[in-house]
Amino acid sequence: MEKKRSNFTGQLGFILAAAGSAVGLGNIWRFPYLAAKDGGGVFLLVYIILAVTFGFTLLATEISIGRKTKQSPLTAYKKINKHWGGIGIIACIVPVMIMPYYCVIGGWILKYLQTYICFQGPQAATDEFFPGFITSYAEPIIWLVVFLVMTALVVFTGVDKGIERFSKILMPILLVLIIGISVYSLFITHTEEDGTVRSGLEGFRIYIIPDFSSMTFQRFMEILMDALGQLFFSISVAMGIMITYGSYTTKETNLMKSVNQIEIFDTIVAMLAGMMIIPAVYAFSGREGMAKGGPALMFNSLPKVFDSMGVTGYIIGTVFFLIVTFAAVTSSVSIMEAIVSSLMDKFKWSRKKSCIIVFAYAVILGVIVCLGYNLFYFEFKLPTGETAQILDIFDYVSNKLLMPVVALLTCLLIGWVAKPKTVIDELTMNGERFYRKWLYIIMIKFIAPALLFVLLVQALGVFNPF
Ligand code: ALA
Repeated sequence: MEKKRSNFTGQLGFILAAAGSAVGLGNIWRFPYLAAKDGGGVFLLVYIILAVTFGFTLLATEISIGRKTKQSPLTAYKKINKHWGGIGIIACIVPVMIMPYYCVIGGWILKYLQTYICFQGPQAATDEFFPGFITSYAEPIIWLVVFLVMTALVVFTGVDKGIERFSKILMPILLVLIIGISVYSLFITHTEEDGTVRSGLEGFRIYIIPDFSSMTFQRFMEILMDALGQLFFSISVAMGIMITYGSYTTKETNLMKSVNQIEIFDTIVAMLAGMMIIPAVYAFSGREGMAKGGPALMFNSLPKVFDSMGVTGYIIGTVFFLIVTFAAVTSSVSIMEAIVSSLMDKFKWSRKKSCIIVFAYAVILGVIVCLGYNLFYFEFKLPTGETAQILDIFDYVSNKLLMPVVALLTCLLIGWVAKPKTVIDELTMNGERFYRKWLYIIMIKFIAPALLFVLLVQALGVFNPF
């Protein structure tokens, strides 16, 4: 007899779990450094426009596929069209590739949290701290395992009692804390030795007011591609997650409303994360510091900002890394759930057996990723020209290659083979009004595939269209 599929207990539980998945390292670590690098306002504007068009389209599509088929990614696509089941395999490889390195970064966050809790903030602010930590042998592995155990325990506890309950507690706390620090960040002022005074409020203006004065076409396209790539990762699409979570919703759930609220939640948290970090970094290191931060913004630049705040910096630093921990765990839970649920659907394994296998896999691969900074260190040139270690290779293959492929094929399947009506019917099955219906059809058939194609070509480094 077929086992009854788990469900979220209601709409709120689903929205908070999906928002928990969406809000993660993408929002708090990646979004602010991209926004800072791309000059703030223009990036923000492009990101918001993409979120309500492109992001909405992909999110609505995946959640609908999940609820319609009641399957996780590995088997869901086959149910939509039996010749297109292959997308499911690629969609399932994505979380399989992301999980080990996401949990390694999760371990780094735990290390920083422990450092601040133990009043060792000044150590974290030194240039040697981060490289010293990631190149050490044992510590990153220990923190990886701690992070993985936290993730696996929630997934093991199940959909309603584990994932839903955990997200219902953590997401509201996260929102309150992030608003608190964002507001605090606006009131920071810093005086340089030469007497220059910079305030968080000025940094905030740079962050939100678009400045097109020195914009070129090439620069704009760079920002567009950064925002597009970021949006994918941020709303957890093309990684099987939203199909899985959609499959746990009941037919009574208003999907239209849920999609809007998940999208709004994710975008607001990303914007608040920028508001938390950019004004502070600007006040302490000016525009140059903003642009230079890069991926190390959170691990290098920010601890320096906390350090300059004196005692307050300990509290802000602790709360900040607590927020990042919450965000990272709720996301890694969803990444693991996408794999566990696929194994359960495909092989009819129990949750326990699937969790143990995925946990063991993630430990082994995670350890290899950690050793990529010492024992297995090598420098690999990516097609994009960047130098990569094992973690970056996993990130490149999953994020830059496989995710655009999954999203592109999903658009072609729904836009041209199964037809947009498949998703529209699912979204409106309880009589919901679909205000953005025409936008949805145009996006899924034409604009989204075109944007995805450009993103993929750029990532392959075959040629740079700009
Ligand atoms: N959406 C998740 C994040 O932003 C994966 O980190």
